[in-house]
Amino acid sequence: MSAIKYIPEPFRIKAVEPLKMLTRAEREEKIKEAHYNLFNLRAEDVYIDLLTDSGTAAMSQAQWAGVMTGDESYAGAKSYFRLMDACKDIFGFGYVQPTHQGRAAEKVLMPLVLKKGQLAISNMFFDTTRAHVEMAGARTIDCVVEEAKDPAKRAPFKGNMDVELMEKTIKEHGAEKFGLVVMTITNNAAGGQPVSMKNLREVSQLCRKYGIPMCIDAARYAENAYFIKRDEEGYQNTSIKDIVREMFSYADLFTMSSKKDAVVNMGGLVGVKDAGSPLVLGLKANGISYEGFVTYGGLAGRDMEALAIGLYEGIDENYLRYRIGQAEYLAAKLDEAGIAYQSPVGGHGVFVDAAALFPKIPYTEFPAQVLSVELYKEAGIRTCEIGSYMLGNDPDTGKQLKSDFEFTRLALPRRVYTQAHLDIIADALVSIKERAGQMEHGYRVTWEPPILRHFQAHLEPIK
Ligand code: F0G
Repeated sequence: MSAIKYIPEPFRIKAVEPLKMLTRAEREEKIKEAHYNLFNLRAEDVYIDLLTDSGTAAMSQAQWAGVMTGDESYAGAKSYFRLMDACKDIFGFGYVQPTHQGRAAEKVLMPLVLKKGQLAISNMFFDTTRAHVEMAGARTIDCVVEEAKDPAKRAPFKGNMDVELMEKTIKEHGAEKFGLVVMTITNNAAGGQPVSMKNLREVSQLCRKYGIPMCIDAARYAENAYFIKRDEEGYQNTSIKDIVREMFSYADLFTMSSKKDAVVNMGGLVGVKDAGSPLVLGLKANGISYEGFVTYGGLAGRDMEALAIGLYEGIDENYLRYRIGQAEYLAAKLDEAGIAYQSPVGGHGVFVDAAALFPKIPYTEFPAQVLSVELYKEAGIRTCEIGSYMLGNDPDTGKQLKSDFEFTRLALPRRVYTQAHLDIIADALVSIKERAGQMEHGYRVTWEPPILRHFQAHLEPIK
């Protein structure tokens, strides 16, 4: 018996998407053809797709109705104004501009706030954010709290910035070297771990003290607000919307991939608190060059309409309780089976500790990729390796780098899978665990592109 109750869906199903179910022998053939890289699989050969929670949500009837009323005018569309009203109401920012997704918001903003030779600090940068900081000529420093690095340590708000380390780092290099501080909420790379309000407040005070602008990377801002309400003293009687408003009150800027907590399949936002800031003109110029006119930013009118509605659905407390409840349910099943993961479980999925599951497989043979391939073979489940395979080689020496974690990420798409799907996932993990102790070998790379290899590389099993 599971110690935790499944929180029932606060919705019922109106449209269904049939799934194909292959046999184990067929899946073994498919994954071999894909060179043991799950990005190379056809989605139709996957039964439960946990590759990402980004852009994979099921939209609501209100959002689909919004799609029909979307205004496709090039400039000044009604849907743009509806989206701006929602953004002002929820985030309280003076200026917001749509972009086609999160990394586009980063591309538009980073060259305006960072110069060559500068530094940027984060609790933990997401890959694309790091890439855009580097493309602006700056370098990144992560200052996440130490407990984030120990998956077995159950502590609240493991996504926090280590503020002492942050201040020490600023003093070491000199404040003038720093162009930006980015708070990623929730902290994806650390396992969807939340950041506390207290931490946001303290980071913002340090930013003011040293004159560095603070930016929120807001992909999973609503899940973060839910954790604050649940776990941080003094917020139990505050609405999610008011918590979100306070979180954003500490920042000067934000970028957002709306493909996560805003429950749409495509979209992004970039915002500046002070509508009078000279940055606004820069955002408009970069937006027009890279994304499209400022009132659509790479989105169709119907996308903006769905986004304006999704922003509200994403902060609905009943929805968030069910949403976080799914991750907790799956995590509780793993607790029962003695399978380790980044704990307590975060917002958007379960990050299984594959190094603990396969103690005999060295990081050079990618234990978390082994688990990803086994999950596909076992039950047609697609997941993502977040470990040494994703980290890649040292650009100077060409040597395989060792990641702090060997995680297999089970990212949960929003409003898509049911309790029965979650049970299948848990059962698959349990049956893999039964043979995991004997497994001694993983994979070797037989071909890789020069950067971001995990998307395309070819692998083969080491016999
Ligand atoms: N910031 C965070 C924290 C993210 O998790 C992502 C995307 C982005 C920015 C970039 O947004 O994809 O809309 O361009 N994360 C996805 C993931 C891809 O699977 O975690 P995007």
